Amino acid sequence: MLRLDDITQTFFAGTANERVALRGVTLALEPGEFVTVIGSNGAGKSTLLNVAAGKLRPGTGTVTVAGADVTALADHQRARDVARVFQDPMAGTAPHMNIEENLALAYERGRRRGLRRGVTAAKRELFARELATLELGLEPRLKAKVGMLSGGQRQALSLLMATFSHPKILLLDEHTAALDPQRAELVARLTAEAVERHHLTTLMVTHNMEQALRLGTRLVMMHEGRIILDLDAATKATTTVADLLGEFEKIKGARLDDRTMLQ
Ligand SMILES: Nc1ncnc2c1ncn2[C@@H]1O[C@H](COP(=O)(O)OP(=O)(O)OP(=O)(O)O)[C@@H](O)[C@H]1O
Ligand SMILES: [Mg+2]
Repeated sequence: MLRLDDITQTFFAGTANERVALRGVTLALEPGEFVTVIGSNGAGKSTLLNVAAGKLRPGTGTVTVAGADVTALADHQRARDVARVFQDPMAGTAPHMNIEENLALAYERGRRRGLRRGVTAAKRELFARELATLELGLEPRLKAKVGMLSGGQRQALSLLMATFSHPKILLLDEHTAALDPQRAELVARLTAEAVERHHLTTLMVTHNMEQALRLGTRLVMMHEGRIILDLDAATKATTTVADLLGEFEKIKGARLDDRTMLQ
């Protein structure tokens, strides 16, 4: 469903500031596959998601979505198929618009312009029903400005909006990192439910290794622009956080503690 083939990405090539972010990354996701991505700061995780989303055009390599080569398509041209949620709860929603307006925007995304007809009673009912699945009590608050919601509420809403237009691919970049543990847990649970319910092919970046092991059907570890570990569901099920830390130590040749990895 999503194929990244031999992707390289270099920033400021040929200058003193040259940064090689991706060094020939190949990753293929089957439909419905849910891959968690871990790796230290600067490993290239966000760059990989940006390439998959079309926000960045890779230096070399190809991006394929549902069999079509989309390498040359910009992010807005992929928006119908590829949805994403960022780390910053403020990034995925429009704060000055109310919940209903935000949901309407997400609903229309990827649909033909001619079909826009504002928020009908039927849509309002659908929105309330979808909001109820978040179990945050937001359904009677359709007219509330999104800027008034908490980070966790906004992130849950962002997730709902991302899945609203039935994308093929969901890209999550540390989308629970800015939340308190309880809200992070809620958004993680909602993520797993949404992926299951919509059969989404998903890439989720997280620094939380316990979360990376618990969620998803496959885990990849990145380091210095490469995928250095790729665990299938069965292997992942028997892998511990200590094992993952051990892998990092092997690669870096130095001792890392939990705190370093999880920050
Ligand atoms: N827009 C950019 N301009 C220049 N360099 C960049 C840009 N984006 C990323 N880089 C560099 O590319 C490398 C990979 O960055 P990336 O953001 O993909 O890492 P990451 O794995 O997401 O790290 P983190 O865990 O800190 O989010 C880093 O060396 C970074 O400095
Ligand atoms: Mg990042």
